[in-house]
Amino acid sequence: MYVSKESFDAQDLFEYVPKDIFASLRNPALALPRRVLTFLTVAIPFSIFWFFLSHDRLPSSLSTAPAMPTTKSHWHGWANIENMIIFGDSYTSTDFDPKKEQPSHSNPLGNPPLPKADSIHQKWLHYLTMTYNSSAIQTYNMAKHGATMDGFVRFYHEHYLPYYGISNHTGAAGWNSTNSLFATFYGINDVRRCTDQPRTKGDCSEIYTSLFAIYGFLLEQLYMTGARNFLILNIPPLNRMPFSRKWGHPVPSRAVSEWNTRLASLAADLTLKHPDATVFQFDTHALFSEVIDDPISYPETKMYKNTKDNCEEYKESGKKNDYKEVCEVKLGEYLWHDALHPTTAIHEAMAVQIAQMLETEHRRADENMKED
Ligand SMILES: *[C@@H]1O[C@H](CO)[C@@H](O)[C@H](O)[C@H]1NC(C)=O
Ligand SMILES: *[C@@H]1O[C@H](CO)[C@@H](O)[C@H](O)[C@H]1NC(C)=O
Ligand SMILES: *[C@@H]1O[C@H](CO)[C@@H](O)[C@H](O)[C@H]1NC(C)=O
Repeated sequence: MYVSKESFDAQDLFEYVPKDIFASLRNPALALPRRVLTFLTVAIPFSIFWFFLSHDRLPSSLSTAPAMPTTKSHWHGWANIENMIIFGDSYTSTDFDPKKEQPSHSNPLGNPPLPKADSIHQKWLHYLTMTYNSSAIQTYNMAKHGATMDGFVRFYHEHYLPYYGISNHTGAAGWNSTNSLFATFYGINDVRRCTDQPRTKGDCSEIYTSLFAIYGFLLEQLYMTGARNFLILNIPPLNRMPFSRKWGHPVPSRAVSEWNTRLASLAADLTLKHPDATVFQFDTHALFSEVIDDPISYPETKMYKNTKDNCEEYKESGKKNDYKEVCEVKLGEYLWHDALHPTTAIHEAMAVQIAQMLETEHRRADENMKED
């Protein structure tokens, strides 16, 4: 039987989901009690351990710094960010390998080599690191293609913790709470996976409860390793993507909006729990919706001539100016590279808007949230 690469990856990742959460994904009715149980068995010993070991301190390179009052903001502006540590899926992945060349001033993303300027694969974090930066930034990318919340678990444990987390700052020698921004961009594959299961009939509430317990737990763990500045991205309108509209995987818009609503309250919870954390929420959904409706909304996307469909013949193409007659317009003039992934222009628009938000937003994110 032919197994697509994508479903193979998903299977593969399932191995990293704690067994009870795996069970809860299969049987949402079991989700809550099991989830709470695991949460307690993992979280409580860890917190006690952490409290005694390093209460009010930061790991390794910072452990000699005087303890800061916990209400002090560690956000000193976009121009003071020197490191970004990023978690996400294919919208974010650059196939960074923590065992290979590390980010440096001359090579801000480390490995692999950067995409060329005419590549359709430049992503928001390339632009944010190297074009819309206000300082020299080194970006450590933990994102992986196809990642779901179980991918967050996996790459937190396999890439972040051993290489850049507690007790190992050798990889990212200079990162500390004030000069670093932690970004998370998950949900696209979780929502797809959930809404693709006929059994859920598009109602993902129970599954989201489990997934957001994991999301919250991992944000909390990042906080414990010293993360104080967070950038949390919500998900674009999957229901308006070609794979949902055309290719037999309809995603109800409410499954998307519920994800984003829960994410907004998760972000709000983080600042309530930790007054010294600064949380920026980026509204990917709004930006994509505007561009789909009218590409002229942003200067970076004004060349788009087709924001609704993808051209299958471009799936293997990699350059903005690639042209196939059957597709009618150039690859770079499509918003959608394939049924699920956008071309580079909207990534640049994301970076511009994110940088603008980080540049101008000095108020604490928890103040913003009260307006919603
Ligand atoms: C932004 O990043 C690029 C590439 O690393 C670097 O050459 C440039 O100096 C940076 N800009 C600022 C304002 O530091
Ligand atoms: C710490 O990070 C460095 C560089 O990323 C890596 O070579 C080393 O193996 C890591 N140490 C441990 C204990 O994982
Ligand atoms: C964090 O690192 C920056 C240099 O990158 C340094 O100026 C700052 O004092 C450090 N912060 C703390 C709390 O050590």
